Amino acid sequence: NGEKFVNDLLSKMTLDEKIGQLNQYTSDGAATGKITVDAEKEKQIREGKVGSMLNVMGVDKTRALQEVAIQSRLHIPLLFGLDVIHGLRTTFPIPLAEAASWDMWLMEKSARIAATEASAYGIHWTFAPMVDIARDPRWGRVMEGAGEDTYFGCLAARARVKGFQGAGLGNTDAIMACAKHFAAYGAAVGGRDYNSVDMSLRQLNETYLPPFRAAVESGVATLMNSFNDINGIPATANSYILRDKLKKEWNFKGFVVSDWGSIGEMIPHGYAKDSYDAAKKAILAGSDMDMESRCYRDNLKQLVADGRVPVSFIDDAVKRILLKKYELGLFKDPFRFCNEQRQQQQTNNADNRKAAREIGEKSVVLLENKPVNGKPLLPLSKKNMTLALIGPFAKATVENHGFWSVAFPDDAQRIVSLYDGIALQLDKSSTLLYTKGCNVKDEDTSNFGAAVDLANKADVVILSLGEAPDMSGEAKSRSSIRLPGVQEDLLKRVCATGKPVILLISAGRPLVFNWAADNVPAILYTWWLGTEAGNSIADVLFGEYNPAGKLPMSFPRTEGQIPIYYNHYSTGRPAKNDDDKNYVSAYIDLQNSPRYAFGYGLSYTSFDIANLKLSSDKLKIKGDKLKVTVDVKNTGNYDGEEVVQLYVRDLVGSVVRPVRELKGFQKIFLKKGEMRNVEFTLSPDDLKFYNNDLQHINESGEYDLFVGNSSQAALKGHFELTE
Ligand code: IFM
Repeated sequence: NGEKFVNDLLSKMTLDEKIGQLNQYTSDGAATGKITVDAEKEKQIREGKVGSMLNVMGVDKTRALQEVAIQSRLHIPLLFGLDVIHGLRTTFPIPLAEAASWDMWLMEKSARIAATEASAYGIHWTFAPMVDIARDPRWGRVMEGAGEDTYFGCLAARARVKGFQGAGLGNTDAIMACAKHFAAYGAAVGGRDYNSVDMSLRQLNETYLPPFRAAVESGVATLMNSFNDINGIPATANSYILRDKLKKEWNFKGFVVSDWGSIGEMIPHGYAKDSYDAAKKAILAGSDMDMESRCYRDNLKQLVADGRVPVSFIDDAVKRILLKKYELGLFKDPFRFCNEQRQQQQTNNADNRKAAREIGEKSVVLLENKPVNGKPLLPLSKKNMTLALIGPFAKATVENHGFWSVAFPDDAQRIVSLYDGIALQLDKSSTLLYTKGCNVKDEDTSNFGAAVDLANKADVVILSLGEAPDMSGEAKSRSSIRLPGVQEDLLKRVCATGKPVILLISAGRPLVFNWAADNVPAILYTWWLGTEAGNSIADVLFGEYNPAGKLPMSFPRTEGQIPIYYNHYSTGRPAKNDDDKNYVSAYIDLQNSPRYAFGYGLSYTSFDIANLKLSSDKLKIKGDKLKVTVDVKNTGNYDGEEVVQLYVRDLVGSVVRPVRELKGFQKIFLKKGEMRNVEFTLSPDDLKFYNNDLQHINESGEYDLFVGNSSQAALKGHFELTE
């Protein structure tokens, strides 16, 4: 039993050894590079002064360092952590893209495969999933999460934690998950990374904390602090979220790691005088492990000696960390994740790549598919076609990894480019032409003429544009979220040829591309899809897979409309329609709706959702359930999937309520012509919210209900929640 083992061990530890367990260093080179640690760090590991390393990977390197660690007096093994955000050798779509699949089972599956590959590379711990609710696409880190909605974010958090931790720590293919960034990082003012967050505790509890709680309920082993302050207190030293919520109310038994240097950053924050003060504030508030700031290493001993930090606080943090090492089985065998054969066989293999291709297909969102010559442009025929493939991403390989992935030396050979994906599927009777057209970021238009010439030779043009993968991610906030460089000019020039154009947009966030939305017949949002990107996109282009992705974030019309999210609170002056500017809450120079709404996405077929029925017009707060049914019919020419979505609106509350809230969805497959009755169940728990006293309660009253295939669903019902 872990508890007893850990207590025994703790009783033998010196204060220095305890503090060592709270100390995490990075390696001194790239994770896949040659260097792992310098002589000084190695010495500290041997002395038991390091609890964990990040950015060391590979059986050989983790084994070498673990051998040093177990030479320490008490032979305590190291934990190896890495940002395995969307796969390791096999990369999957960036998490925001994957969220567009609205398929929790697939999200769990990609995390499962990522864990299998990471554990085969000697890794015990991933710094994922990111469960921050994100409503500002200027923030570069939106790419790492599940988007803007809390209900959806909770499901994604559960799926991903389950995927990473598999059948439970102790299995060699399970790694510890880390729900990050605790908390409210996604609400940084202006979408500027590391910025402040100022919000009511009600909003914090209602919108931003639930995905963390869902992760805790799913058994997540660790959490990571966020860099921001919350209402003036840096999250790293915020005892309201760390002690009151996480460790007391939610009874979290795992440990909290700081973000990189975030303990020391409380000094420039102006919240700590020096590293002594920072260490004191962080440990007292409940941050257990110090990633890279060295504040704990340098100050905790003195803080205990000075009577500023009771040793019980250090003991609690150490116990939490040792318990996870115990659960991972590292005390029994510190090398159980070091198996060369596994590293060879269980990574980048055919099964993992097949899954990546499938998840890639399901992440693509069809935004436009207008008729050209009386018929929607997509899907394309493979036969008798001359296709012109143009754009800076057409032959991209390593870029398809997206941000937050580990570079391997053979990436350029093994990642499927769009060009290769299309070429592999195109029939011999067809021709594929290619030119780059322009670069991603610069102003060079010298290749435009060649692009226009190529387009003129083609039946259909496929333009692959977007933002570079290093434009979304940590420290990648953008004030303008347009296509960078001269890409939009290239698009206009190519469209001017009159040839039908399919636009593919690679990006880590929602971008603004109004001209394209108005003028280009077909647009696929292809995000960053990972190792199999080219194959997944080709499958969608040729109709091997009928796209069913739905947006997990609202797409704004301009940056001035940000933050824009579907479930905003009701105002006293709501707009009556998209163009209503009559002293209502709106911008006078813009339509009121987003360019593309949360939950929106087209298919090559069409669906009719009708016949909404409620089992009753009343739902009793005590133990009652409401059944909601609709008939969904595939009315188009292709088999396909549809995400049927259920939203509610609480009409009157003791605090103002959102205009709509997602409360359920189902992704169903229907053959053409097929109809299915889809049933949802609503219970009073689904309708609870935080009142002004921060109580999570039901209030009786009237509700509207909407079912459809986006957050703009029009099919409407009504019921009353009663005592
Ligand atoms: O895990 C990340 C975190 O999300 C941002 N800062 C660095 C950490 C470790 O790489």
